[in-house]
Amino acid sequence: MNNSVFVQRRAQLIATLQPDSVVLISAATEQSRSRDTGYPFRQHSDFWYYSGFNEPDALLILSNRANLPAAQLLCREKDPAQEVWHGRRLGPQAASEALQLQATALSEQSTILKQSLDGSSAVYLNLTEQTDLLAQITVQMQDLKQREKRGERAPLQLIDLAPLSGAQRLVKDDSEIAIMRQAGEISAQAHIRAMQYCRPGRFEYQLEAEILHHFALNGARYPAYNSIVGSGNNGCILHYTENSSLLAAGDLVLIDAGCELYGYAADISRTFPVSGKFSDEQAALYQLVLDAQYAACNAVKPGSDFAAVTAAAEHVLTEGLLGLGILQGELSQLIADKACKQYFIHGIGHWLGLDVHDVGAYKVNNASQNGSEQPFVPGMVLTIEPGLYIPAGSPTERRWWDLAVRIEDNLLLTADGHENLTTAVPKEIDAIEQLMATGNARD
Ligand code: GLY
Ligand code: MN
Ligand code: MN
Repeated sequence: MNNSVFVQRRAQLIATLQPDSVVLISAATEQSRSRDTGYPFRQHSDFWYYSGFNEPDALLILSNRANLPAAQLLCREKDPAQEVWHGRRLGPQAASEALQLQATALSEQSTILKQSLDGSSAVYLNLTEQTDLLAQITVQMQDLKQREKRGERAPLQLIDLAPLSGAQRLVKDDSEIAIMRQAGEISAQAHIRAMQYCRPGRFEYQLEAEILHHFALNGARYPAYNSIVGSGNNGCILHYTENSSLLAAGDLVLIDAGCELYGYAADISRTFPVSGKFSDEQAALYQLVLDAQYAACNAVKPGSDFAAVTAAAEHVLTEGLLGLGILQGELSQLIADKACKQYFIHGIGHWLGLDVHDVGAYKVNNASQNGSEQPFVPGMVLTIEPGLYIPAGSPTERRWWDLAVRIEDNLLLTADGHENLTTAVPKEIDAIEQLMATGNARD
């Protein structure tokens, strides 16, 4: 990514700070998986958003104070012995130039942190996520307070950075949109590949392997979240990631998977029949979720909001469930009672970006202040993902039991509506059946 976007984002954030403030953002740390093996490193999203630096053990300090640099980075020093074992480090000298900020060795952290805090009026940091950093700052503030007689001064305010970074990250810039388009396309093609590979007798994790393979072959080494491949009643478990069952003829399989590209997530769900042909019940339930998805997508345009989108989907789902005899009663009453929530047990969607469930407020104010919905504006990216889940034992005819359907796409708000970033993977019943019938050359 071009470094100028990170410089621009920092300037934009700094322009919103109270006078004489500092912002502190910690990099992620490496996580142990077992003894000497680690989980793949994933940078903290805010840290990445404002620095473009993908190493652990670093601290970004931004400031609007006259006596401090606008952007400082504390990072690991070059160390040939460490690097030959654990990988290359950029080091402060190269980082200064590459990232266009003032970089210093991490060993200076205590001194630089103290200089940054001393005399600042406010310190911004993510108060609920970066608790190690908060603890460090608290110790530094205690030290500063003890030295007030010598003219040092602890900051007067700690301010949560999350609302500010959340608001900035909510509306994507052109570089982010380009990446998210590409992440959507790669992920859509991966779903196509899984549909084509699907057969009774294969394992759920083998469909997952097809998806991950496609991600990596196309430049996205990691998934944005653990892929969900749930066949039969596994589909009723929303975050099913065991992916260990055999695919059985006659079952549906629900796949929820998306790649991560330069930190940005795609998040697609598709549901299709293991043997390539929907039964009557499966087709009826599937078509209903698809109709609800179209209704919800149609409501995604500037000025609309998640409440409007939810209402559109719930109207279609309730009417459809009533038509299928899965719900009984009077339509307007069922809508008022939100009766469809018995089977549509999650929200209609969420913001999407560096985090799958991305940051950004859903309400403009707190509910106690008559919080109103965050209105959609161009540049926002969100998912639309209605689903129906009818586990065994539900108060319906048995023929509906154990069916689970979710259809999820990623939508970019544009000036006159939206652009579907994940439209390449089919969702019409005919198109899915046709695609599965063409199979896979590697059979
Ligand atoms: N993949 C998680 C979600 O759809 O929200
Ligand atoms: Mn989602
Ligand atoms: Mn999903």
